[in-house]
Amino acid sequence: MPALLSLALLALLGSAFATPNPNPQQLPLINADLLYGNAPPTKLRDDLLSLHRSLVEVESITYHETEVGHHLARYLRRRGYTTQLQYIPSKTDSPDENRFNVLAWPGDSARPNPRVIISSHIDVVPPYIPYYISDDEPTSDTVIGGRGSVDAKGSIAAQIIALQSLLDAGEVREEDVMLLFVVGEESPGDGMRHFSNSSERHALNFESVIFGEPTENKLACGHKGGLFCSIEASGISGHSGYPWLGKSANELLVKALYEMINTDLGSSDKFGNTTVNIGRIDGGVAANVIPDHAKVDLAIRVAIGPEDEGGEIVVDRIKKILYELDPESLKFAYTHGYGVVECDCAVPGFETTVESYGTDIPNLKGVYKRYLYGPGSILVAHAPNERLTVGDLETSVEGYKRLILHALQN
Ligand SMILES: *[C@@H]1O[C@H](CO)[C@@H](O)[C@H](O)[C@H]1NC(C)=O
Ligand SMILES: *[C@@H]1O[C@H](CO)[C@@H](O)[C@H](O)[C@H]1NC(C)=O
Repeated sequence: MPALLSLALLALLGSAFATPNPNPQQLPLINADLLYGNAPPTKLRDDLLSLHRSLVEVESITYHETEVGHHLARYLRRRGYTTQLQYIPSKTDSPDENRFNVLAWPGDSARPNPRVIISSHIDVVPPYIPYYISDDEPTSDTVIGGRGSVDAKGSIAAQIIALQSLLDAGEVREEDVMLLFVVGEESPGDGMRHFSNSSERHALNFESVIFGEPTENKLACGHKGGLFCSIEASGISGHSGYPWLGKSANELLVKALYEMINTDLGSSDKFGNTTVNIGRIDGGVAANVIPDHAKVDLAIRVAIGPEDEGGEIVVDRIKKILYELDPESLKFAYTHGYGVVECDCAVPGFETTVESYGTDIPNLKGVYKRYLYGPGSILVAHAPNERLTVGDLETSVEGYKRLILHALQN
């Protein structure tokens, strides 16, 4: 009876994980192949894959999350959750902007007060890529692709199935958990920021939040901060034959960028170097005209902390570079910046990692334990070949179960 065997194995592993282990190395890493062998519990796989498929099939590029939000809320209500749609104040009257976060909790409490929040985001980056699956009869090696299959609908599906299986097994109490699926994570983070500042959130006293993002099923000990900024250079135009009579804004900008990528803007052992992506450059009007204007947009990944001030440290170092070059002609501006984001990764049985991408974590203010974990790789997340395997998804179900139990055992 392979199914029974798997269940027994799960129970065995479940009880081992629930006990604090002074030596994390002794716990086996989670691996769906080891758990299930060639005979996974079919119902779990079916539930997982059909939920994942239904989420990926609904296009939900940022600002168009309404349909997938309703789909998710319906799915959860049918399974006995109470749902609340938390509308984001809209800047326009566009119907596309009736955007909402989905909050859901098992049971019918009117005033939930969970200890653990399990969260991810329902928006994806463009363009839409249809769902596909490589086999009619999936095995753990079966590949599933499509926009959002990894970032972050893989996390959402695995989180819901993990929580459901803990609730079904009586390992978690209904009142201890809440699901939070937000809009706008990819940009501009307005969903989580709205939740963070809402009356719903202020009524809660949660201890931990599990954030679902692709970490290749490793537990992230943190991620880099970010600084999103631009530099504008102004010059004096003139005939290209007489550059000494004008002042080239392009040349000035190139010098500033050269200094920036050759200067230590902040580094740490844990997070490495602060890196500069010269994302977009715009300057000049024609080859034979001295350019009097140039602009660059930059995404900087900040490797120093603390979270609240690390961004400012990098800002100061950039300003110093610009000041030494030409303070009159180089103008620096930024929308937001933050330093490294530390996460809790002292959980037995997980391989750990550190990420170089941003998440919604800094947008949820407050003191609580943060866990960052999910299936699939960030390296395919925004790419045309976004995809993961059935085994990745199943492994993450076990990972989320272990994280939820860990967060509740303290
Ligand atoms: C937070 O909410 C308060 C009260 O609703 C509001 O006045 C304030 O502007 C909000 N702050 C942000 C950053 O959204
Ligand atoms: C960080 O930068 C230094 C010098 O700028 C370089 O030697 C080092 O290899 C870099 N580290 C990483 C992790 O890229």
